[in-house]
Amino acid sequence: MKKYIVTGGAGFIGSTLVNHLPEDSMIVVVDDLSMGSLNNIEKKKNIKFIQGSVTDEKLMSKIFYEDQFDYIFHLAAIASVADSVERPLETHQVNFESVLMLLELIRKYQKNLKRLIFSSSAAVYGDEPTLPKQEESIIRPLTPYAVDKFAAEQYVLNYNHLYGIPTSAVRFFNVYGPNQNPESPYSGVISILVNCYKKLLSGQPASFSLFGDGSQSRDFVYVDDVIQALLLIASKEETLGRQFNVGTGKSITLNELIRVIDDELGVKLPVQYKDERAGDIKDSVADISRLLSIGFESEYTIQSGMKNYLKSENLV
Ligand code: NAD
Ligand code: UD1
Repeated sequence: MKKYIVTGGAGFIGSTLVNHLPEDSMIVVVDDLSMGSLNNIEKKKNIKFIQGSVTDEKLMSKIFYEDQFDYIFHLAAIASVADSVERPLETHQVNFESVLMLLELIRKYQKNLKRLIFSSSAAVYGDEPTLPKQEESIIRPLTPYAVDKFAAEQYVLNYNHLYGIPTSAVRFFNVYGPNQNPESPYSGVISILVNCYKKLLSGQPASFSLFGDGSQSRDFVYVDDVIQALLLIASKEETLGRQFNVGTGKSITLNELIRVIDDELGVKLPVQYKDERAGDIKDSVADISRLLSIGFESEYTIQSGMKNYLKSENLV
């Protein structure tokens, strides 16, 4: 029986992954529930939930001492770029220090590991204007979040080259879909938008704060495509010691995105334009040739992904 550990497994991407993993496996989830929720995880006998922080060395040592895992997905992080600008020290402890500690624990205790997958980010590319971003493009991190993701990712890949630990990293672009927590001002923009539309459609006052003029663009990738990419990368030998962009290869501006959702729902969302956020990237789009080369097949466009998401929220 395969054993998995998913840190951040009660969060958006983590819970979607946990709910997709095979029934005949044993899955340990570690999450401090700062953003995630137990409601995101399906109730199954093969899932063991541990509430705690990945920065807690005693807890993490115990987990890795007691069990041998086949696959480790390290998704726990403070995922907001803007939050890292507000709280660089706290976010560094979770987004960088926990990774180095995890690598050392793996080196000590996890002799049979098949793969560690680390969730890095498109934020590492920063605002260098050449698009689309290839894995070998210039790295120009603009925020504590991006610096930590790049440093952690490089440690993770170096542990493969230096010590033979089986590792890979994924650079997610902007992931969206069900289970993303919309409640924080630092939540992913699509979850905040969908929340605003929900209010609007139920007759409550609703207005969306748009930071900047709405011409910034992102490569929004539907979470089910992300899960396909994670499982594919974890299963292939040629992905060892390498990082992979995970996106769609297409981008859309926030103004266009709002138009797409307005049209789908037949409403017009009131938008309040505010100052641009410090450290915000203007344009982002992935070159996904490396991911395609291992057999990835994207199933969703922004239109079909949004439709699925709105359906799951009973809005269409
Ligand atoms: P999320 O906030 O929904 O999930 C992260 C989870 O980690 C949450 O459940 C949170 O409670 C948990 N967590 C936070 N600090 C913790 C700690 N100290 N100990 C244990 N658990 C902790 O975010 P997500 O969108 O699911 O992101 C998952 C990973 O992917 C993160 O590493 C994020 O940086 C990365 N990522 C996400 C995106 C995106 O667009 N969503 C893009 C690039 C990278
Ligand atoms: C997102 C992810 C980050 C990931 C990165 C990869 C989250 C919270 N952030 O960062 O983990 O590493 O993609 O590309 O999942 N905006 C508004 N109004 C709002 C919220 C946001 O206008 O209420 C704007 C932002 O200023 C930004 C855009 O929407 O221009 C996207 O913001 P956000 O969803 O936070 O994503 P990124 O910062 O791109």
